[in-house]
Amino acid sequence: MSAAHLAQKIQQFESPTPITWKQYLVDGYLHEWEGEMEKVFSPMGPISAEGKIQRHYLGEAPTLNEEVGLTALAAAKKAYNNGRGLWPTASASERISAMETFLEIMKTKREEVSTLLMWEIAKNKSSAYKEFDRTVDYIEDTLEEYKELQRRGSKVGRNGAVISQVRRGPLGVVLCLGPYNYPLNETFCLLIPSVLMGNTIVFKPAKYGVLLLTPLMEAFQKAFPPGVINIVFGRGRTLAGPIMKTGDVDVLALIGNSKSSNALVAQHPKPNRLRQVLGLEAKNPGIVFEDANIDLAVKQCVNGSLSYNGQRCTALKLIFVHKNIISEFIEKFSKAVDKLVLNHPATDAELTPLPEKNKVEQMQAYVDDAKAKGAKVMNSNAGRVSETAFFPAVLYPVTRDMRIYHEEQFGPVVPIVEYEDLEDPMNSIAQSDYGQQCSLFSDNDATIAYAVDNMVNQVCRVNINVACQRGPDYLPFTGRKDSAVATLSVHDALRSFSIRTVVAAGSDQKELVGRVISGGESKWMTTDYLL
Ligand code: G3H
Repeated sequence: MSAAHLAQKIQQFESPTPITWKQYLVDGYLHEWEGEMEKVFSPMGPISAEGKIQRHYLGEAPTLNEEVGLTALAAAKKAYNNGRGLWPTASASERISAMETFLEIMKTKREEVSTLLMWEIAKNKSSAYKEFDRTVDYIEDTLEEYKELQRRGSKVGRNGAVISQVRRGPLGVVLCLGPYNYPLNETFCLLIPSVLMGNTIVFKPAKYGVLLLTPLMEAFQKAFPPGVINIVFGRGRTLAGPIMKTGDVDVLALIGNSKSSNALVAQHPKPNRLRQVLGLEAKNPGIVFEDANIDLAVKQCVNGSLSYNGQRCTALKLIFVHKNIISEFIEKFSKAVDKLVLNHPATDAELTPLPEKNKVEQMQAYVDDAKAKGAKVMNSNAGRVSETAFFPAVLYPVTRDMRIYHEEQFGPVVPIVEYEDLEDPMNSIAQSDYGQQCSLFSDNDATIAYAVDNMVNQVCRVNINVACQRGPDYLPFTGRKDSAVATLSVHDALRSFSIRTVVAAGSDQKELVGRVISGGESKWMTTDYLL
């Protein structure tokens, strides 16, 4: 089918009523912005007679200036008040109650947020709802885990001559920046645990997926005390850079790429004081051994490399296949890719348009570079469909001199590398700048045992006969080398956004300590057990 024909086949749906959102949340107020606004267009829209896409207009959001960004920071700083503010000193039940209020309102916004997820970043319908529901579950699970943490902290221990109580305390002001591919879930996986631990926040949404946060602005305002969560809209360069330069940020929480995080960290005048919680690039490899179940490997590799068009940090981004099975693998893999349906996200198609500017050109450039260096496109439907749609390209044989071998494509291009000696993929993985996850495909116990032992110190999650993924959210999510700093999961994120703090006394102070605890005057020195 020709690209023009495929482009025309992308069904059209009526876009939601445009939203003109002028508010930002600073110090507990939803302020009206009268300055520059950024228009938001969907990656979907009808194709004109000249073959151009007429992107649906979805609305607009503020492009705040540096001054407003700094006001948001000042509000967060004031609310934290060097750890003495109302929020960092609030009791666990006060924080839980605020979060529950937020969650209750958030649940009523499922339809609005999921619809905007679909229209702004072209996430297919069921994945959009799934992102919303997964985030609600994440908040509920985090609340339970937080209670458990508090229960552990409510014990007073005695070791020899020392009486002590150990809790986890907040770190300070968090600058929170999420990614466009999971603008709700991944952002909230940073924001929710950090706020629950008593930190105060300045949050700026990603470049794409901005309007979908607007239905939640009121919930943030109603649920949390002034200054605890401040939400600003605009460009990273204008807002985040100047905020970092003040030296008042204690935690940089970012999911995105290392270029942005390095640039921000470099602007902090006291980098040793800055904790980083980062989820960055990855180039997760799949290794298909000669004793693999090929059909299973094909299915998992298609899903792993192309779900949400490959725009996942956990996507399989380089597939090594053993020489003895490569012809069969490529034939089946290419056929399976060509069967995928590219359509409007409202149809729940597997493939959808790409929200990022110039993404189609970037994908084409990877293909052109690989072709110039000897690779071929193995599937029939590959290539540009429209300005925002690109049908996945399966490239083979991919070699080290090609850009796609090393760079994170974050999109619908699948490079396949042939290997004979396992040392080749092992060396390549060891030399890679990234170390998030890998997938191993084999039916043989000895192969898996050997490969697992060789991979566990290269990456942070080894998946057996299944694609890489972040979930379920109770599992630690992190990476080695340039792929991550700190660990996220329901359990770990609360720890990443806090520090252990001890109150200790000699056993001769037993009476005094007992009186402070039973007097109920201290929120910290309490043995109250949260149910
Ligand atoms: O973009 C990276 C996400 O953390 C991937 O999460 O594996 O659930 O799609 P996922």
